[in-house]
Amino acid sequence: MIENICCIGAGYVGGPTMAVIALKNPHIKVTVVDLNVQRIKDWNDSDLHKLPIYEPGLSEVVEKARGRNLFFSTDVDKAIDEAQMIFISVNTPTKTYGVGKGMAADLKYIELCARQIAMVSQTNKIIVEKSTLPVRTAETIQNILDNTGNGVSFQILSNPEFLAEGTAIADLESPDRILIGGNETPEGQMAIQSLVDIYSSWVPKDKIITTSLWSSELSKLTANAFLAQRISSINSLSELCEATGANIVEVSKAVGMDSRIGSKFIQASVGFGGSCFQKDILNLVYISKSLGLEEVASYWEQVIIMNNHQRTRFATNIIKTLYNTVSGKKIAFLGWAFKKDTNDTRESAAIYVADQLIEENANVSVYDPRVSEPQIRYDVKYLNSRSEEKNSKHLKVEPDPYKAFEDSHAIAVLTEWDEFRDYDWERIYKSMLKPAFVFDGRNILDSSKLKAIGFKIKSIGKV
Ligand code: UDX
Ligand code: UDX
Ligand code: ADP
Repeated sequence: MIENICCIGAGYVGGPTMAVIALKNPHIKVTVVDLNVQRIKDWNDSDLHKLPIYEPGLSEVVEKARGRNLFFSTDVDKAIDEAQMIFISVNTPTKTYGVGKGMAADLKYIELCARQIAMVSQTNKIIVEKSTLPVRTAETIQNILDNTGNGVSFQILSNPEFLAEGTAIADLESPDRILIGGNETPEGQMAIQSLVDIYSSWVPKDKIITTSLWSSELSKLTANAFLAQRISSINSLSELCEATGANIVEVSKAVGMDSRIGSKFIQASVGFGGSCFQKDILNLVYISKSLGLEEVASYWEQVIIMNNHQRTRFATNIIKTLYNTVSGKKIAFLGWAFKKDTNDTRESAAIYVADQLIEENANVSVYDPRVSEPQIRYDVKYLNSRSEEKNSKHLKVEPDPYKAFEDSHAIAVLTEWDEFRDYDWERIYKSMLKPAFVFDGRNILDSSKLKAIGFKIKSIGKV
């Protein structure tokens, strides 16, 4: 029976997942470790508002379990040494250099973890892949462990995480399914069972499915590819709607009522973001290409092409509508996070739209309820499109949304935060330059109400 777990990586996946595992299994000591000293300090802060990740319900879970059987530490070696089961939950960004640049997942953090586990371990351990990894990564990990270790034995499991940010705690508490892949040997099956036991503390047995390692790894990529493909499909049709006068909201509703299709994940938007969708599809494309499966690769690549097009199209529409020039014009951004209820900005459409507008010399003024100013500045800088001087001249971050609107030519809604609906839109209208334009990239505002006030509003997939 497992009594001691370690998780390497205290990020958006590792932190909330381990908090819930600890909450539901008071008899198991769970230690989450990270190289990032500040991150661990924030996880341990007595002020729960300072947790490094914003997720509804997370602070309550941390409050109950932290110090009882949930610990956050930078002592990676000690936690590895003591654990019977080690989750690897480090980031696997898309490679920014070398072979597979811009496509393949960069596995250097995973490899470092594997080498460290091999070096430290003096007893047999179960290693659980939590991060999304390209199919057959388990083989690489097994190889490193077997060739560099101290002669102890390792069982590798794949247990992909399906939580979505913003609803992580709810998703963890009642998951659609738990997927565990492992070796088909008796030792592999025993390892699978020990992880099944941990989840069984709160997840019904029929929702826990077990497969081979490879099926589990590929299922994670497939799930994200399907979800992203639905968004690109509806977004492609949003452009057709704008050109023909059909309404994408009506189309989504009508289509979604077909139980074979379903109503979720067909909401047109300025484009999907987040750390997973793009990375996982690029990964799928890369794997397919390396296996010579050109048709498979180009089929999935189109999902990314369409997403990039949707972001560009949104920015181009702003420029065209503002009489083909945004130079020197103030444009207020509502939202920077890649979706509501998170402070995560990875691959957020807002970053790309801002970059395109800054290139046209617009003055972008951003308000987001949860994203910090340094993060917003870092995101734009990271694209490396121009000098820092130019970025800082054209990018402002406002803690007060009403300040962002003052004397602006247009408002662009980039994230669907609930609070945006309830703003005093009469007051906003008065403070803006006329004509006052609103570009609703999330279709969350009441367009008839805004039109009645005097706004010129452009939504996605509607005329
Ligand atoms: C389809 C639509 O389902 C229906 O709503 C519309 O009114 C007409 O077009 P139909 O073509 O009669 O209906 O059959 P359908 O059950 O949709 O199957 C179409 C094809 O897809 C068949 O060749 C079927 O074998 C195939 N299919 C279906 C698969 O290959 N895999 C599946 O999972 C489902
Ligand atoms: C996703 C998967 O949902 C989750 O199962 C997996 O574990 C990690 O990747 P996440 O990226 O956190 O989760 O958020 P998700 O809710 O999937 O949203 C991704 C992006 O798609 C966001 O930018 C969101 O705004 C956008 N989106 C979502 C749409 O544009 N339209 C929709 O209908 C749904
Ligand atoms: P995710 O969304 O996958 O959780 P994050 O970037 O939020 O990704 O979290 C990953 C965490 O893993 C980061 O906090 C990073 O510092 C940590 N990390 C990366 N490599 C290692 C390593 N070798 N040892 C410990 N922590 C690591």
